[in-house]
Amino acid sequence: MTNRPPEETLRELIARELTGARQRTSLLTDSVDEADLVRQHSPLMSPLVWDLAHIANQEELWLLREVGGREPLHPEIDPLYDAFEHPRSERPTLPLLPPEQARAYGHEVRGRVLDLLERARFSDPGFAAAPRVGDTFAFGMVAQHEVQHDETMLITHQIRAGAPVLAAPSPPSAPADAAALPAEVLVPGGPFTMGTSTEPWALDNERPAHPVDVAPFFLDTTPVTCGAYAEFIAAGGYDDPRWWTAAGWQHRQQARLSAPLYWSNDGGQWTRRVFGRPEPVVPDEPVLHVCWYEADAYARWAGRRLPTEAEWEKAARFDPATGQTRRYPWGNADPQGQHANLGQAFLRPAPAGSYPAGAAPSGARQLIGDVWEWTSSDLLPYPGFKAWPYREYSEVFFGPEYKVLRGGSFAVSPLASRATFRNWDYPIRRQIFSGFRTARSVSSGGRPPQTPPILGGNLSPQTPPTQTPSS
Ligand SMILES: [Fe+2]
Repeated sequence: MTNRPPEETLRELIARELTGARQRTSLLTDSVDEADLVRQHSPLMSPLVWDLAHIANQEELWLLREVGGREPLHPEIDPLYDAFEHPRSERPTLPLLPPEQARAYGHEVRGRVLDLLERARFSDPGFAAAPRVGDTFAFGMVAQHEVQHDETMLITHQIRAGAPVLAAPSPPSAPADAAALPAEVLVPGGPFTMGTSTEPWALDNERPAHPVDVAPFFLDTTPVTCGAYAEFIAAGGYDDPRWWTAAGWQHRQQARLSAPLYWSNDGGQWTRRVFGRPEPVVPDEPVLHVCWYEADAYARWAGRRLPTEAEWEKAARFDPATGQTRRYPWGNADPQGQHANLGQAFLRPAPAGSYPAGAAPSGARQLIGDVWEWTSSDLLPYPGFKAWPYREYSEVFFGPEYKVLRGGSFAVSPLASRATFRNWDYPIRRQIFSGFRTARSVSSGGRPPQTPPILGGNLSPQTPPTQTPSS
C-alpha cells in the first residue's frame, strides 16, 4: 500500500478486504444460535446482534451516504447503533433489529456498496498524504472497522459460557532456535521516525510521521510467557504492594485479582478456559488477559518496566543498518503467514520465539500479532495531529485515562495490523487479548530477565519464589 496500485487493482483489493471481513463476521455470528446472538454475555460487551447491525450501519453511513450521497435506508435505526449514544451495558435494552433483519440489513448495504465501488473514482493523487472522504480511505476505514468488530466479537465468544462453537488449528510449536534466544535485545539510542504520513489507510491517531529521540534500552526478545508469569504469582506478586502502583494495588484488592482472567488453580496446576474448552496453561505461550496494572506490577517485580510506546515502535520499525524506519519489523512487505500470528487463523498466541521470519532488526520476535502489548504510555496525540474523519474516532480519548497497547493480537486482521497502529484501553481491562513484554534502560540499571523467557516457569503455584524482591 505504500506505492499506489492502479485503480482496478485498488477496486479488487477493497472488494477482497470487504468480503474477507464479512466472511469472518458471518462465521462469528452464524456459529451461535439466536438466543446467544441477542444475549449480553458481559456488561463490557454488546450483544453480538448489535455488532452485526452496527457494522452495517457504519458502512451505510460512511460509504453509501457520505461517499455515495445516497438517502438513508432506515434512518430510524441510526441512534440504536451509535456507539456514543448508548454504552455497551445498555445496548441489550434497546429495540435492536432481530438477527434475521440485522443480517438482511448488512446484506442490503453490502450489495449497494459493491455497486458504488464499481463506479468510484480513486483519482486524487494526493490521497496518501491527505485522505478525503470519497477516496479509498473511506473504504479502508470501513473494512478496518468491520475487522475490528470481528476482534470485539471474538472477545465476546471467549467470555460466552456454554458449549464451544469455535475451533481452529494450533499454531506450530516453537522453532528450534527459540530456547537459545537471548532473553532481551538491545535497541540502540537515537532518533527514529514514529507514526506515518504515507500509509493510506492509517487512522488519524497514527499520523503524522515525526522524529522521536529514544535513549538506548533493552527489550524482552518475546512477550512474557505464562510460565514466567506463573513465577510472579508463585513468588507472591499479587500479595506484595511494593510491585503495584497505588491505583493498581487498590484495583487488585477491589477486584480480587490473583491470576490472569480465565485462569484457575486445579489441584496445584494452572488451567484456563479457551473459547469454552478447559485446558492446562501452556508455559511457553505468551500470557494473555492481563490488565495494565498486572503487567506493570510484574515488570516491577522483575526489576524492569513496561516499554514506552515510542520504545516499542522503535524496536518494531527502526533498522540501525540503514537508519530507516520500516513499515513492519521484517521490512516493508504486507504481513504474510510466515511473519506473524494474525487474522484468527489460530485462536491463541503462538509459543514464544515463533515467527523468526517476522523478527525485527534488533532480534525481537512477535512484536506484531499474538498478543496486544501494554506500554507504559498514555494515549496522547502526536505533534501535528488532526482529527479525522471525526473527533470521536480518537481525540475524545486522549489523556491519562487510557494506556496504549501495540502490535495486535492473533485476533487482529492483517488489514488492521500496522507497526504504527495504536490501541488503547483502561488499565483495569483484561477481557481484551492483552499481554506485554518488559524493558530496562541502558543508563539506569534494571535487571536482565532472571527467567529465561521461553522455558521459564513451573506452573505449580507452590513453587518457591526464585527471586528476592528488592524495593
Ligand atoms: Fe464500531
